[in-house]
Order: sequence, then structure tokens, then C-alpha cells
Amino acid sequence: MASPVFQRVIVLGAGGSLGPAILKALARHFEVSILTRKCSTSSFAPTFKVVTIADDYPTAELLEAFKNQDVVVCLMSPWACESQKQIIDAAVKAGVKRFIPAEFAANIVTHLQAQESKGLTWTAFITGPFLDWCLLNGRMGFDVVNREAMIFDQGDQPFSTSTLALIGGE
Ligand SMILES: NC(=O)c1ccc[n+]([C@@H]2O[C@H](COP(=O)([O-])OP(=O)(O)OC[C@H]3O[C@@H](n4cnc5c(N)ncnc54)[C@H](OP(=O)(O)O)[C@@H]3O)[C@@H](O)[C@H]2O)c1
Repeated sequence: MASPVFQRVIVLGAGGSLGPAILKALARHFEVSILTRKCSTSSFAPTFKVVTIADDYPTAELLEAFKNQDVVVCLMSPWACESQKQIIDAAVKAGVKRFIPAEFAANIVTHLQAQESKGLTWTAFITGPFLDWCLLNGRMGFDVVNREAMIFDQGDQPFSTSTLALIGGE
């Protein structure tokens, strides 16, 4: 079976920690638009088409924004993940072919699976914590400023993590 050809990608939550790395990677291969909220303080390079909608992601505005888009990429904050079901439903209605969810800390896989019979395909990327973001923000037990680190258990448990650039594909 031939692979589907994706041309147009719209990214939600693009102004967060991960957004710039993803935009940089996608812009090399696709026509990229950004969907943001009225209350957002994010700013983007003028090379991107930016669509601004109401803060609660209303379906009518999502449908308009998703018209002619092949792929929706959700990078939304976990605080907004409740809205993802209505975003997925709008993507299906608009004929979007592939959905990339913000799946970290969000229980969304069952809803995505239920949309497969309606023609939606989806891909979830399991990245683990963002390594560079965590180091800079004092997460994962590292205190870089004071050169201290917390040892979990015996300090010999492997865990997986990714840098922001790696998630973007570099
Ligand atoms: N931090 C980690 O280590 C980690 C690890 C793995 C996965 N993840 C997941 O990766 C995704 C992206 O993470 P991130 O750190 O880049 O996210 P983030 O900076 O917290 O937020 C990303 C964007 O979400 C949008 N948003 C929508 N509703 C919001 C609300 N109510 N409050 C705040 N922001 C809202 C904002 O974009 P607009 O203002 O443009 O609408 C914001 O810039 C998230 O789903 C996160 O759970 C994070």
C-alpha cells in the first residue's frame, strides 16, 4: 500500500517548550500553520501562518482551521489536554489524515482508536521527560545551579529521556 502524502501540517501549542524544535523540523518538509488561542502570549516567526481561535477551542473554529490540513500536531500543555477530544473530533470531521496527540499525562489513546474506523490515523511519540528542559528547570532531581543531584533508589535504575532537538528529529 502506498504511503499517504502529507503536505499541510497545523501545530497546536507551538509556543511552549517543545514547540520551537518541532516547528523547525516540520518547516523543512511541510507547509506549516500554527493554531493558537486568543489569550496566548506566544509569538512566532512571520514565515508561519498563525490562526487564532477562542481559548476553549470551539468546534466551529477548529473545523475552519483544520480545513485542507493533512496533519494535526498537538503540543498542548497538560492543562489543556481535556480539550483534546473535541480537537480530535473536529480533525476527523474536517478530514485530517493523521493526528499526533499530546499523549503525555493524557488518557486519549482509546478515543483515538475509536476514530480509526472514520479514517483517522494517529501516531504517539513516547519521549520521556525533556532532558535539557528538565536540567534547566531543576526537574528530575537535578539542581544545576548549586551543582547538586538527588540519587533515586540506589542510583542504578535506567530511565529514558529525550532532548527537545531529538524529539524534533535532529
Ligand atoms: N515537560 C516534559 O518533560 C514533557 C515530557 C514529555 C511530554 N511532554 C508533553 O509535551 C507537550 C508539550 O510540552 P511543553 O512543555 O512544550 O508544553 P507547555 O510549554 O506547557 O505548553 C505548550 C502550549 O500549550 C498551549 N496551551 C493550550 N491551553 C493551555 C493552557 N490552558 N495553559 C497553558 N498552555 C496552554 C500554549 O500554546 P498557545 O498559547 O499557543 O495556545 C502553550 O504554549 C505537552 O503535552 C506535555 O505534556 C512534556
